[in-house]
Amino acid sequence: MTESMCTINPAKYVRGKISLPGDKSISHRSLIFAAIAKGKSKIRSLNTGVDVLSTIACLQKVGVHFQLGRYTVNVNSPGLFDWHAEDKTMFNCGNSGTTIRLLSGLLAGQTFSSILYGDESLSRRPMERIIEPLTQMNAIIKSTDNHLPLTIYPSKLKGIHYTLPVASAQVKSAILFAGLLADGKTHVTEPVPCRDHTERMMKMVGIPIFKKKNTWTVHTLKRPIPGFEYSVPADPSSAAFWVAAALLLPDSHLVLQNVSLNPTRIAYLQLLNKAGATINVSNEQNNYEPFGDLLVKSSSLQGFSISSNTIPGLIDEIPILALVATQAHGTTHIRGAQELRVKESDRIATTVTCLKTLGASIEEHQDGMTIHGPTPLKGGKVNAFMDHRIAMTMVIAGLIASEPVYIEDYSVVDISYPDFFETLEKIRY
Ligand code: S3P
Repeated sequence: MTESMCTINPAKYVRGKISLPGDKSISHRSLIFAAIAKGKSKIRSLNTGVDVLSTIACLQKVGVHFQLGRYTVNVNSPGLFDWHAEDKTMFNCGNSGTTIRLLSGLLAGQTFSSILYGDESLSRRPMERIIEPLTQMNAIIKSTDNHLPLTIYPSKLKGIHYTLPVASAQVKSAILFAGLLADGKTHVTEPVPCRDHTERMMKMVGIPIFKKKNTWTVHTLKRPIPGFEYSVPADPSSAAFWVAAALLLPDSHLVLQNVSLNPTRIAYLQLLNKAGATINVSNEQNNYEPFGDLLVKSSSLQGFSISSNTIPGLIDEIPILALVATQAHGTTHIRGAQELRVKESDRIATTVTCLKTLGASIEEHQDGMTIHGPTPLKGGKVNAFMDHRIAMTMVIAGLIASEPVYIEDYSVVDISYPDFFETLEKIRY
C-alpha cells in the first residue's frame, strides 16, 4: 500500500439522507457572472472542488475579489468592462476544461493579453474547438498545435453565426460570452441540446438572450449588470455515484437533497428508470434551474442502450453507468460516445481497463463499449488515471465487489467532490 492508494471494502447497503456539493457547471458560471457583474454578489452552496477554485484563481487575476467560506462566496467585481491585468498575465486553469474554455471567450475581447495553461491532463485536451470559432470572431489566439498554453492577444471581436460541430456546452458558452464583447449579434446553433446553464444564468442576471429553434442569440453587452445572490443546486453528476450505490446494493435507500433537475442533465435518471430503477423525485422547486430531492431504492435492472443523440445529456455519467451495466441483466450498448476520449482521461479506455480488472465482461469500441451483465465483480488494484469520475466510479465498484478494491491516486476526487469520502462513511454499512 502506498499513501496515494485507498482501500474500499465491500458494503452491505447504503442508507441515509445526504446533501451533495453544488453543481460544478453552475458554480463555475455563477462565479463568472459575478465577475461580469459590477459590485457585490453572494453565491451559496458553491462547489468548492479544485476545478471551481481554478476559476476563482483566474478571476482574481483580472481584479475580482473573493471571500470564500466553506460553501459560500462573497464576490466584489469591477465588472466586465473594467477587468484589468498586466499584459501576458498567466492564468492557471489546473485540470478544468470549463475554466479554460469559458474564460477564453471573455479574455479574447480584453485590452490585455493572457496566457492560459493547465495541468498535464488539460494540456492533452483539444482546444481547436474554441480557437476556431473565436478566431472567426476576430480573436487572436496562439497555441501549440491547438493545445495549451494559449496566448490570447487583445482584439475587437465581431458577432458570427456558428454551428457547433460537436455538442459541447463549454464551446457554446465560450462563444456566447465572447458575444457579450463583440460588435453585432452572435448566434450559436446546437445540433443536439447540451447543458444550458449559461443561457439560464444570462436570463437570471438580466442579459438579453433569445432562442429560436436550436439557435441562441446574444447582443453586445451595453451596460454593466448589477451584483446578485444565488444558491447553487446540488450536482446531479455527483449524485449519480450514490444513485448507483443505492440501486446496486440490496436493502439500500438514499435521499439526495436539492439535486439539479435541469432537463439537459438528468438523462441518466430517465435511462435508469426505464431500465427498472426505483428513483422518485419530490420537493420540486425552481430558481432559474429546477431542483428537487431524489429517493433511490435498490432495484433489479435490465441492460440499456445509449446512442449519439443521448450522449450530451449524460456525458459525465457514462463511467458510472458502465459500472451499473455490469450488474444489469442483458447486454448494454454505449455508442456515439467518442467525446469521452477527450475528457480528463480517455474515459472509454480508462473505464474499460478498470472494469475489466475487476472481472467485468466488457468490450471497447472506438466510440463506446458493450457490457454483458450481470457479472459479479471481484476485488483488485485499479488506477484512477488522474480522473475524478473514474476514481469515484471505482469507489462504488469497491462497495459492490466481493473483495477489496485498491485505488491508486484516489485523491483526485477533490476536483469535483472534496467531501466524497466523508459522505461515504455516513451512508455505508
Ligand atoms: C461542462 C460541459 C461538458 C462536461 C463538463 C462540464 C460545462 O463538457 O463534460 O464536465 O460545464 O459546460 P463539453 O461541453 O466539452 O461536452
